[in-house]
Amino acid sequence: MARVFVTGSADGLGLMAGRLLAEQGHAVVLHARSDARAEDTREALPDAAGVVVGDLSTVAAMRDVADQANGQGRFDAVIHNVGLGDRERHRVETADGLSQMWAVNVLAPYVLTALMHKPDRLIYLSSGMHLSGDPSLDDLQWSERRWNGSQAYSDTKLYDLLLTFGVARRWPGVLSNAVSPGWVPTRMGGRGAPDDLAEGALTQAWLAVSDDPGARVTGGYLYHQQPADEHPAARDPELQDRLLDHCEAVSGVALA
Ligand SMILES: NC(=O)c1ccc[n+]([C@@H]2O[C@H](COP(=O)([O-])OP(=O)(O)OC[C@H]3O[C@@H](n4cnc5c(N)ncnc54)[C@H](OP(=O)(O)O)[C@@H]3O)[C@@H](O)[C@H]2O)c1
Repeated sequence: MARVFVTGSADGLGLMAGRLLAEQGHAVVLHARSDARAEDTREALPDAAGVVVGDLSTVAAMRDVADQANGQGRFDAVIHNVGLGDRERHRVETADGLSQMWAVNVLAPYVLTALMHKPDRLIYLSSGMHLSGDPSLDDLQWSERRWNGSQAYSDTKLYDLLLTFGVARRWPGVLSNAVSPGWVPTRMGGRGAPDDLAEGALTQAWLAVSDDPGARVTGGYLYHQQPADEHPAARDPELQDRLLDHCEAVSGVALA
């Protein structure tokens, strides 16, 4: 039995991955943004071993969520699933002065990775849309450009790959992989999403616990349990370090 923590798991793919793992007998700790959503989450998956609470759009809350998760002991695997989709009509700024989408999609997984007890496996949710992401890393916070939600989302999903591969390079003892779940009909994906919803949660759950050789890789980007095409810039160690340095600069949290 493995102990797995899944962020952003009140709904959608996070809850589905948690449910799959709990059905397999693993101890799953879920995460919700508020006490009310935590209550919904407990009702949705009564078999969960716990629910950690916190809105991951501020650095203070990211630190608090990391503390709560650490209070539950070390996890074997963490699935960094939390995410905001591409429907924000304008740039929302957090209390830390950051783009909210960037804070939730990129900084939260970074801060939790840096502050939580090191697990054996890390899984980050990226997206096929990362292929349209901007590899220049200019204007990471969208403070200079006119807002484009779809482009901003694609950028964050490219940065999630830089984070995944940067962590894989810096922490050779930890399996660090990214997943594209396909375009699936969750609340984020929308009703018309064409891919199979059930398949959308399989790969991250498999990477978290399976002993299959295909799941015991690191520095991978997978779609439906197979390597997928990735933006070549994601493999650039200099870009990975620039992203990690920016995350450290704005959060004050180092990836030791
Ligand atoms: N669906 C797709 O087609 C698709 C495609 C590619 C990649 N992905 C990725 O897959 C992951 C999961 O997406 P999904 O489709 O399952 O999305 P979803 O249905 O919108 O679920 C997202 C989850 O994250 C939580 N969340 C969002 N912001 C939060 C915050 N500030 N603090 C705490 N929790 C927060 C939401 O909580 P509430 O329920 O309380 O709002 C919800 O439980 C994301 O990283 C997404 O980028 C999805």
